[in-house]
Order: sequence, then C-alpha cells, then structure tokens
Amino acid sequence: MEKIIIKGGKELSGEVVISGAKNAVLPIMAATLLCPGKFSISNVPDLKDTRTMMKLLDIVGSETSFKNNSLDIDSSNVNNPEAPYDLVKTMRASFYVLGPLISRFGRVQVSLPGGCAWGPRPVDYHLKGLEKLGAKLDLKNGNILAVADELIGADIHFEFPSVGATGNLAMAAVCAKGTTRLYNCAKEPEITQLCEFLIKMGANIEGVGTDMLTIIGVADLHPANIRIIPDRVEAGTFLMAGALNGTIKVNNVIPGHLKRVTNKLKDTGCTLQIDKDSISISSPSSIKSVDMTTAVYPGFPTDLQAQWVALMSLSESSSIVTDTVYHDRFSHIPELSRLGANIKVDKNTAFIRGVKQLVGAPVMSTDIRASASLIIAALAASGKTEISRVYHIDRGYEKIEKKFLGLGAEIIRQS
Ligand code: UD1
Repeated sequence: MEKIIIKGGKELSGEVVISGAKNAVLPIMAATLLCPGKFSISNVPDLKDTRTMMKLLDIVGSETSFKNNSLDIDSSNVNNPEAPYDLVKTMRASFYVLGPLISRFGRVQVSLPGGCAWGPRPVDYHLKGLEKLGAKLDLKNGNILAVADELIGADIHFEFPSVGATGNLAMAAVCAKGTTRLYNCAKEPEITQLCEFLIKMGANIEGVGTDMLTIIGVADLHPANIRIIPDRVEAGTFLMAGALNGTIKVNNVIPGHLKRVTNKLKDTGCTLQIDKDSISISSPSSIKSVDMTTAVYPGFPTDLQAQWVALMSLSESSSIVTDTVYHDRFSHIPELSRLGANIKVDKNTAFIRGVKQLVGAPVMSTDIRASASLIIAALAASGKTEISRVYHIDRGYEKIEKKFLGLGAEIIRQS
C-alpha cells in the first residue's frame, strides 16, 4: 500500500501549474456517448477518476486513447448501455452516463451508487427528473433500469442546485422532443463548460451559467473537441498550502472561478497578486481566523472546506466553518486532530481553535479533499507525517507530490 511521507516545516516557494478540472472532464467524457463519432479532449488530468471513466466508456463500447493529457474517444460502436457496480462504487460520477445513454439508446442500466464518506448522497433528483422527461424506471438488484421510447421536454425544478443532476438531465434533454427547462440548477464552471461542449455538439441551450437552463431538443448531435478548464479546487488547495507556509505562484488558473476563495484568503492576512491566468500568494506572519460557510457556486466550494479547516487550524484565534452543501463532510477532522489541531464538530459546523504548531503523525486519507487537507497541514507541521490510503488523493490530484516537490517541499511517495 502506498504512503505519502512529508517532513514538514519547509517554506514553499516557486511556481506550480494547475491541471485540467476533474469535475469538468468527467461529465464531458460521458457526453461523448450522446452520438457516434470521434471526439478529442485536451488538458485532461491524468487521475484515477479519469482512468475509471475511460474504463467505463470502454465497457459501453467506446474506444479511448490517452496520451500527454489528450484524450481521443471514438463512440461509434457504443452498444452496451450498462454501467456496472464495480465502477460506480469506486466513482459516483459514473452515474453521469445515465443521461447520455438513455438519450441515445432509449434504455440504460446503471448501478445505484451507495452511500459515501460524506453521508448518504442520494440521486433522487436525477431519477425524478428522468421520470419527468418520460422515462420509466425500475430498481433491480441494485441497478436502475431506465427505459423511454422517446424523451419529452419538461419543466424540472431542483430542490437544491445539484451539480450532477443538472449535468445528467441537461445531457438527457438535449435530444428530447420539445423544450426542457431546468430551474434552480447548478451554475458551477464545470457545468457551464459541459453546456458549452453540448452546444459545440449541436445542442440548443439557453441560459448557460445561470440558474435556469432552457434546452430545446434537437434531432441530431455531432462530435466536438474541447480543452478542459483549469481545476479551481486543485488551485485553491495550492493557494491554501501557500497561505500556510510560503510564497508561491499558481499558474494556469481562471481567477474569476476562485473569487470567493481569494477574497477569504485576503481576509486571513495573506498577500495575493491576481493576474490574468495566475495567482501569487504569500503567507502572513500570523494567519487571521476567518469564519467560512460553503455554498453552491459562486460561493465558497465545499471541495475546499477540508483545506480551509487545515488552514484555520494554524490561525491566531477561533473560527467557525459550516458546510451547507454536505452536512457530514468532516472525516478529515479526527485525522487533523492527530496532528494536534483543536477542532470540535457539531452537526455541519466545525469550531476551530487555532494552535501555534501542528506536529507530524501517521494519518489516514478518507476521501479526495480530506487527503489534500492532510497534505497541506503536514507540510506546515513540524516533523514527519505519514499519510496512508493515498489512492484517495490520486483520484483527484495529478502528481501532487511532484508538484509540491517542485515548490521545495520534502515529500515522497513510498510503496
Ligand atoms: C459534485 C462534485 C463534488 C462536489 C459537489 C458539490 C463532481 C464529479 N463532483 O458532486 O466534487 O463536492 O458537486 O459541489 O462534479 N443531492 C440530493 N439529491 C440528488 C443530488 C444531490 O439530495 O439527487 C444533494 C446532495 O446530497 C448534496 C447536494 O445535493 O447535499 C449537492 O450535491 P451535488 O451538487 O449533486 O453533488 P455531486 O454532483 O454528487
């Protein structure tokens, strides 16, 4: 089993290049199932999750070829609209194939994702939305079977602006008969890029980037190419590592996607310089304690909550962090406590009392972002931290230890 070993306390300095966004590429890869043909996607991060999605595309009948962060997909021979449990259980985003496959084949079977480290994470909005579009659903042996002779446009209101449900239903609706309106939908940049890709494929979508999408069904789609946007969560993770300990420049970012994060970082006393596609950050002599509440975009992302908690663990007084998107996403806290952080949790709120110093210890990754918070905490801690179960981090961060090594960290991966 691989481990990441960090000798903390070394000041970070230098520049790092941010990879393409995991949460943008996964639905776009699924969207290539909507019609036959050859697609080319660039700036694709080499992650466990992108590899899992390639495996899934291969299983349904696509041909994929991945080299130097470019992914070619030929979906001409897709003939098996089924996503098996083995893949869906390792990556919930596999559920994204539901919308495109029912759109193309009128039939799809996808294993129902189970629970997850962040709580129950239901998919009821995806399923209710598909029913509204006219699909008949059946649950058998843990699989959702959805069938529709024809999908018909409908008005769908989301109780909560779900990223996954917005993407899935947009893909299901692009070729439905008539008009679909998605109300209270997610407007995360990754969903915006998915819509832009669908439009390149010939879809007719209005309201992209807003909380109401109007999708007028078209008869045919065609293949398209796209370059994936930079990963704002990876960028935010590096910025927080810099905030904790050093002066670094984060390249290949879209600063507009990180406004709430950079504003909060300024509140902690960090010095930031924001340019067209880079952000430089220097840690302050003492990190101010700043409360933070996660929210849907353009709010502070829940995917950076764990890293913010790590940052606040070394701040000068007390702060409160609330996650309004996931109510049980605190598996990093017992591990941060092993490094000496002083944090109490009540429901979806963490109460953090900053400590002067964290001290290295063996800890365990529990999910992608929890692992990232442990890495940045360990880099700022004194002594040695060994992080086990690093396969979680490999799901969402490309070559993370190499990138930190390039910033002067003492970090190695050990088999
Ligand atoms: C996506 C991201 C994940 C991020 C999350 C929130 C991907 C691959 N993953 O996950 O990194 O943390 O957005 O920004 O893009 N909900 C329901 N019923 C549903 C769907 C969602 O109740 O059918 C609830 C969820 O339990 C959660 C909230 O809605 O409380 C938001 O979830 P959602 O936006 O759907 O997250 P994902 O798309 O799974």
